[in-house]
Amino acid sequence: MYIIRKSFEALYERLKPVIFAATVKDPEKAHEIFVMFCRALYKTKLDKAFFDYPKNVEFKKFEFSNAAGFNKNAEIPFSILYYLGFNRAVIGTVTGEPYAGEPRPRCQRYAASQSIVNRMGLPSKGALKIAENILRYGTSPLPLTVNFAATPTKKGEQAVEDLLYTIRIMKNIKKVDRFELNISCPNISSAAEYEIEALDEILNSICDKLKDKKLFLKISPDTDKEYASGLVSIAYKYKIAGFVIANTTKRYIKKYISRFPSAGGASGRAVYRYSTDTQRLFEKIIEENNFPQKIIACGGIDSVKKAKERLSPKTLGIQIYTPFIFGGPKLIRSIKTEMS
Ligand SMILES: Cc1cc2nc3c(=O)[nH]c(=O)nc-3n(C[C@H](O)[C@H](O)[C@H](O)COP(=O)(O)O)c2cc1C
Repeated sequence: MYIIRKSFEALYERLKPVIFAATVKDPEKAHEIFVMFCRALYKTKLDKAFFDYPKNVEFKKFEFSNAAGFNKNAEIPFSILYYLGFNRAVIGTVTGEPYAGEPRPRCQRYAASQSIVNRMGLPSKGALKIAENILRYGTSPLPLTVNFAATPTKKGEQAVEDLLYTIRIMKNIKKVDRFELNISCPNISSAAEYEIEALDEILNSICDKLKDKKLFLKISPDTDKEYASGLVSIAYKYKIAGFVIANTTKRYIKKYISRFPSAGGASGRAVYRYSTDTQRLFEKIIEENNFPQKIIACGGIDSVKKAKERLSPKTLGIQIYTPFIFGGPKLIRSIKTEMS
């Protein structure tokens, strides 16, 4: 098992420069190759032959999962995510209807600073197809979170209907025990930061339809203090379990983003400082109010040191996307080993 893991890690290191070089113009292709590889590995059944595959993964203290966008359409088999070292999987962003997103290329890789800027625009195969994909891989050993937002073409009541449609489809899947409402996608109004009153109406319509599933809000690292206070209060009103902090940032720093694109959100090292500051801001407001909300830390966590920096009594776990692109399975394994 050790040798197989090491070989997988070594293979990733070997192939990374080749794949990076071949996908400079459209880095999204690199992710597609990775998804194809994972599916091929799953089909060989080698994964099951060499690794223990428990029926249910239990996590005692620390949650560790991929961040949204990594497995948008539930096309990466959950067993592979488990072997990588995750003890929870996030799917999405799922929109009610299929949606194409922005034209490609819509993703820019800054390898030297281990950062990405994306303006994907919420491409999604839609709730129905994604639910089929979840079930295709049999019962997942990992608990599942569905990150969701309204289909960008829907506005007002139609947007709320769209969210309810996704909830109706996903809430009956046994392993889905959590929803994550994406209210922080840069440039997409259906998932952008809502006015607090508008969010109040949305939560009022969806919260009692979630059955026993928990709801988290995924927020922007560009959130100011006043808006953060509003979010914490409304989260308390609707018994929301907590916040995923954070999504991508619209603030570009030259050190990380050498050539500023016209649009998109930055992730990886480019967001670490902002997501950490925002996490601290929320922790402070939650503590001052003595509220029970938890925080899932996300954004540029690319080392054990940074993972530890994001730990606090409020932290439920961490999520990772961009650091995986640059650090590969080795990074996941080292963080997992250290944190568990
Ligand atoms: C290519 C790409 C696509 C993403 N798509 C989504 C998405 O669909 N929904 C979402 O909530 N966040 C999305 N994100 C944001 C990540 O989930 C995460 O919040 C952000 O990238 C910061 O974490 P990281 O530095 O570990 O990547 C995406 C990020 C990237 C790089």
